[in-house]
Amino acid sequence: MERPGRARRNRWWLALAGLALLALAAFFFMWRPALPVQAAPARFDGALVARGANLSKLGMCAACHTADPGRPFAGGLALDTPFGAVYSTNITPHAATGIGAWSFDAFERAMRQGVARDGRLLYPAFPYNHYTRLAPEDMRALYAYFMTRPALAAPARENRMHFPFGWRPLLAFWNLLYLDESPRQIDARQPAEWQRGAYLVDVLAHCSACHTPRTLLGGPDLRRRFDGGEAGGWYAPALNAKSPSPLPWTRDHLLDYLRTGIAPGHAVAAGPMQDVAVQLGQADPADVAAIATYIHGYLKQAPVRATPAQRDGPLPPPSDGDPDLARMQLGYETYAMACASCHDAGRGPGSGTALQLQKAVALYDPDPRSLIRIVREGIAPPDGEPGRWMPGFATLLGDAQVTALAAYLRRYGAQAEPWPDLDETVKKTR
Ligand code: HEC
Ligand code: HEC
Ligand code: HEC
Repeated sequence: MERPGRARRNRWWLALAGLALLALAAFFFMWRPALPVQAAPARFDGALVARGANLSKLGMCAACHTADPGRPFAGGLALDTPFGAVYSTNITPHAATGIGAWSFDAFERAMRQGVARDGRLLYPAFPYNHYTRLAPEDMRALYAYFMTRPALAAPARENRMHFPFGWRPLLAFWNLLYLDESPRQIDARQPAEWQRGAYLVDVLAHCSACHTPRTLLGGPDLRRRFDGGEAGGWYAPALNAKSPSPLPWTRDHLLDYLRTGIAPGHAVAAGPMQDVAVQLGQADPADVAAIATYIHGYLKQAPVRATPAQRDGPLPPPSDGDPDLARMQLGYETYAMACASCHDAGRGPGSGTALQLQKAVALYDPDPRSLIRIVREGIAPPDGEPGRWMPGFATLLGDAQVTALAAYLRRYGAQAEPWPDLDETVKKTR
């Protein structure tokens, strides 16, 4: 007969062994081996490098990995996520601080699985969950391109993550939920250009990383693909039947917009979308045309709504019967003082003229973030490129004026329901 003390001890041992087993399982689940240090081949085929150059534009690698235009791909740009700030890394072939010691296998593992050469799991601020489905030949071309860039010394910067997200092994759970390495479904009935567009949009250009809402865990909510998402504090509008665009998109205007950041009757590409347009403007025009064709297939599902966008002319003062008259009056005065001189007349060939605001998508977005950002920060043309420029009003307009202006533009520009969270958003985004 066993004594009760002994049985209790046995139970303890069993529980401990169970825990140890669990810890071991967790370790193997989260752990990835380091891959050996290996210098890249000294030479690459020129055609392969050229192909990689185009793919790097379509994948917008420079938008995140180039902080200083004089030091391409040296990394160091902070990307704000709900879980903290992640810095992009140096992807030049510098041996000590870049990816110069990475074999093709190490590069491919990073791109497909989000694992660095040394075995660290990478944050999905790096869109490897899209790049995972790159065609093998495209992966080789990208490797060839990056290994032939000038090597620049730039050590990685320390991320600023909120507790507990600084602990990278947790990313194994994210990958379990959101990293889908299965081959892409191909719709063979579609024409070749559409197929090419689908591949570029989903895999390289990762349009849905910004234009699809995210779950609480920061993964793509794929049931709501292209329903509108966010990027760096901007609202990225829906690109499907839910598009808030006040004017319908034609495929050709979409192509103009993607290549140049501007299209007749539509707002300019501002914020993170400006970077996208700059990159796509340098890519193979046939590839960007394929993207436009594919995305237009979704955008054209948006119902044609009667919006004030068809109307030309300056915005009106608030009507006497307005239930929120005092605020609308302040908004109108702010508009007349700060905006009307450029925006009343409509876009012309000269600078100092701009789209009438009843045509600006930011007034129709389901939340006011992009409008508030544009008002405060203005719109600067991309580095080194001549372009249209709008001053920022952060120092001129206080919160009360910005709120009143946004409320006024929403009602008298877009003739839409008030934004419910306007006051809070103006304060929070300061
Ligand atoms: C949306 C921003 C973004 C884009 C676009 C992007 N990256 Fe990155 N990338 C990052 C960030 C951030 C990291 C670092 C992640 C971390 O530290 O966990 C990273 C890491 C990497 C790494 C691992 C390097 C290392 O030192 O661990 C490689 C390789 C890489 N990126 C290649 C590319 C290539 C090639 C492209 C274009 C096809 C690209 N990236 C596009 C943000 C981006
Ligand atoms: C880094 C995030 C990001 C990526 C990647 C991105 N976008 Fe955007 N996009 C935005 C934001 C933010 C806006 C809103 C910009 C503004 O208000 O000026 C926008 C605006 C747009 C618009 C204008 C919508 C309208 O109705 O006026 C189109 C069209 C668009 N994006 C298409 C694309 C396509 C196609 C891709 C992929 C090739 C893409 N975007 C990739 C963030 C992104
Ligand atoms: C000095 C001229 C100027 C002033 C003043 C100005 N803007 Fe702009 N704004 C521009 C230009 C130029 C663009 C981009 C090019 C275009 O749309 O034709 C722009 C773009 C915008 C956009 C994006 C949609 C678009 O037209 O492409 C919004 C929204 C906007 N401005 C709002 C405002 C508001 C609100 C004010 C007043 C607080 C204001 N602007 C004052 C020149 C100006």
